Amino acid sequence: MDKYVVIGNPINHSQSPFIHRQFAQQAGQQMSYERLLAPLDDFSGTLRQFFQSGGKGGNVTVPFKTEALALADDLTERAEQAGAANTLHLQSDGRLLADNTDGAGLVADLERLGVRLSGRRLLLLGAGGAARGAMAPLLASSVGELIVANRTQSRAEELVHRFAAMGPVTCRSLTALEGGFDIIINSTSASLQGESLALPASLCHPQTRVYDMMYGREETPFLRWAREQGVEHRYDGLGMLVGQAAESFHLWRGVRPEVEPVLAVLRAKLE
Ligand code: ATR
Repeated sequence: MDKYVVIGNPINHSQSPFIHRQFAQQAGQQMSYERLLAPLDDFSGTLRQFFQSGGKGGNVTVPFKTEALALADDLTERAEQAGAANTLHLQSDGRLLADNTDGAGLVADLERLGVRLSGRRLLLLGAGGAARGAMAPLLASSVGELIVANRTQSRAEELVHRFAAMGPVTCRSLTALEGGFDIIINSTSASLQGESLALPASLCHPQTRVYDMMYGREETPFLRWAREQGVEHRYDGLGMLVGQAAESFHLWRGVRPEVEPVLAVLRAKLE
């Protein structure tokens, strides 16, 4: 049976095995998918052992996404642009391919939700790894204007500089933000530290679409803020999680799974 894993540290919380087993069942595919904890100082050894034991591919999560990119033989363009890999695939010639499906998962989820990107004024909060992974897919969706705002301004500037050739992207300091946006995406990890972003109310209007890459049992602080501003259309990142998994599954198995039913059972499981 073909073996797949999700590798990270910590890894216990990962929903990827649940998602991929659902996909496999849906597609009638015989495959295993397990969690694999790698020691912080031996990601490469853990990975080598997995592939030596017949592994076919895997997802990579915190904190190994950059290391995964460096260890691969071949990179997809989107992995290179993201500067990180969340997917590894052992190709038929034995070379290891690194891909990044996070940004595609986000854009697919926005499409699923009926959030049109084309021509829209979009604010991306944060300039870390998650933001970088989203940049190219967002710009490829013909956004009208993409503004990046981050606590550390220099990181936002770097990010904008890196992607400037791909579309209309600029940055603004978090405190200097103004004007209503059509779409606001939160890619910061502020809520993981139990913190909320101090954002001006003028950022949104009732029709703004607000998306948090984070998700959880409870409403995220960012989505709570949006609700308090009267924003009706608010979405968490669970659909992005299932969306990126679907892209990985497609790379490995050549089948594009249906996201909606898996998202529904995952949502129910988390409640
Ligand atoms: P990830 O891979 O999840 O993006 P990261 O690369 O560490 O993780 O980036 C975390 C992002 O969340 C950064 O944009 C970070 O802002 P800084 O660049 O200023 O560090 C942002 N972030 C984390 N905690 C935050 C907080 N309490 N308030 C505002 N931004 C925060």
